[in-house]
Amino acid sequence: MKFAILGSGTGSNAEAILKAYRAGRLGNAVPVGIFCDIPGAKILEHGKTYGVPAVQLDPGPFRTKFSPEREAAWAQAIREAGAEWIVLAGFMRVLKAPLLDAFPGKIINLHPSLLPSFPGLDGIGQAWRWGVAVSGCTVHFVNAALDAGTIIDQAVVRREATDTLETFAQKIHEQEHRLLPDVIRRLSMRA
Ligand code: GRF
Repeated sequence: MKFAILGSGTGSNAEAILKAYRAGRLGNAVPVGIFCDIPGAKILEHGKTYGVPAVQLDPGPFRTKFSPEREAAWAQAIREAGAEWIVLAGFMRVLKAPLLDAFPGKIINLHPSLLPSFPGLDGIGQAWRWGVAVSGCTVHFVNAALDAGTIIDQAVVRREATDTLETFAQKIHEQEHRLLPDVIRRLSMRA
């Protein structure tokens, strides 16, 4: 199962995936490329460290979506890298037909809350401000609706009285770094 990682930021989840691959913990899954929409984003460095080609591509003029032409170009570039699957790891744009149709049922996303609660931006802060006793993270299939595709797996994090937003976020990120590689491994065993 060859897959591409799409991300926009620090890429700590991309790094967790690449570490798992290096350690032989990714089953039959093979990362073939990292694609980023933000020039100079740290995620690009992880490609160098782990020997996986990493490129920044122009997404078009919008902030949270692609232009249709650019999204088609991304789909082509990802295909040309040999990817059959796409893993969204901190990718801050919604996907539409050009990518969804090019990889039907083969795009997954990581979200830092227990969906369907707290979709959209800042899932951790939303849950914190609501005063939840538990939150966590979700890996789900991607469809045209925001953070609403079929859930594959979730991990739960308890908010302790001693937690600050920072420690709460840290615990959620630790679960993300464990859950996402494990879901990729499980998908690769059935793909
Ligand atoms: C993660 O919390 C992920 O759930 C969200 O964006 C964050 C990305 O972090 N979609 P990183 O770039 O992987 O460090």
